[in-house]
Amino acid sequence: MSETAKIIVGNQTHEFPVLTGTEHEKAIDTRELRAQTGYVTYDDGYANTASCESAITFIDGEQGILRYRGYDIQELAIQSNFLETAYLLIYGELPTIPQLQGFRHLVLRNAAIHQGMFNFFEAFPNNSHPMAILSAMLNSLGCYYPEMASNNREQDLEHLDNAATILISKVRTLAAMSYRMKHGLIFIHPKPELPYCSNFLHMMFSEPYAEYKFNPVVDRALNLILLLHADHEQNCSTSTVRMVASGGANLFASASAGVCALWGPAHGGANMAVIHMLEQIHRDGDDGSRFIAAAKSGDRSRRLMGFGHRVYKNYDPRAKILKKTCADVLGTLGVSDPLLDIALKLEEAATHDKYFLARKLYPNVDFYSGIIMRAIGIPVDMFTVMFAIGRLPGWIGHWRELATSHSPIHRPRQIYTGSPRREFVPIDKR
Ligand code: CMC
Repeated sequence: MSETAKIIVGNQTHEFPVLTGTEHEKAIDTRELRAQTGYVTYDDGYANTASCESAITFIDGEQGILRYRGYDIQELAIQSNFLETAYLLIYGELPTIPQLQGFRHLVLRNAAIHQGMFNFFEAFPNNSHPMAILSAMLNSLGCYYPEMASNNREQDLEHLDNAATILISKVRTLAAMSYRMKHGLIFIHPKPELPYCSNFLHMMFSEPYAEYKFNPVVDRALNLILLLHADHEQNCSTSTVRMVASGGANLFASASAGVCALWGPAHGGANMAVIHMLEQIHRDGDDGSRFIAAAKSGDRSRRLMGFGHRVYKNYDPRAKILKKTCADVLGTLGVSDPLLDIALKLEEAATHDKYFLARKLYPNVDFYSGIIMRAIGIPVDMFTVMFAIGRLPGWIGHWRELATSHSPIHRPRQIYTGSPRREFVPIDKR
């Protein structure tokens, strides 16, 4: 007999099914709880709530395990690349050679943006945040491809191959454009013959008479950063994408909402916050010990950025991979960055400190990614945009998974704590 769980409310016992995942994780299926008892469950921040069944990514936060579609992140990091992993996340299987060629072809073909979109860039103030621009631009893609943004599930799914590759390709062009506009630089067109990351670096850093000099170590590091960010199950932005999609919204609108959700410093904005923190420590002439002491005060605004994770209660496997890549990139480029020395000292100190050990706070993916991007020349305010470029395949995979499921519109309940009913008081009597 399949496992069940009993919940006693008053003097009545109610029985609910238990769901078991592939990796033996268990959940009590409480969908019928309100109908049976009139009660709802309360879980602020959804920390203990499985919001869906998903076959995309598995994380064991206690063991520090991350797998995309069953493949260990370490294996993908060594043997795969961003586009192949994107295909895996979206479609569920590693591509064959013709499948990957077809996918690459669509990505390469879609790098240019519609002339009309240039006008948007001119209208944004120079100091606009690139995440605000990115979100607006991704949503506006639906205006240029209305047949892919019909908000009719069947129709949007029919066009998914195109819509997905348009997003994955153009997000790079839009990101590079926002950087160049901000710095008053002429826009550099994509080159269809270049691989994914090289094309991005070309659009960012080439000049009309001075081509960007490619370095395979840099290209590989960027590929790796994007691959490692490509999915992370039901995080804040991915849950947002699924939530928006659950109402029937098209892929462009859902991805644009994902960008907004990613922007905050507790989520995708943490990579910027790490660099600001390291710069502050450097400016103060601190070796990190004063900062660590302050981080233990419990004050949210003084947290050690790039440390801790809602799910990982062990070393984030992505941080391990990036720590090594960071040393490779700095070594190859001959960059000596005092921020890396501070980061290494912070890690050493925090991973031996009782406060951090007791709370299972370890470096997360953002701790080293920022130092790598800084060495490549990507400015700090573009870091979260880089995270968004990486996370897009995950968002697309989750959009597809939700759109092909029978999941109802996401509509949580609440516990109302406001005023009880009261009489309206006209303005002249208040
Ligand atoms: N520095 C110092 N103390 C911390 C930190 C930190 N970075 N993170 C958590 N704590 C403490 C916190 O004060 C609390 O202590 P106490 O039990 O004494 O009240 C305890 O650890 C648990 O913290 P929490 O806020 O309940 O944990 P959470 O799971 O809600 O938060 C987090 C996870 C990532 C928001 C948090 O660890 C944090 O703010 N980290 C810094 C920001 C950061 O690096 N974010 C990137 C996350 S990885 C990118 C991604 O996947 O989105």
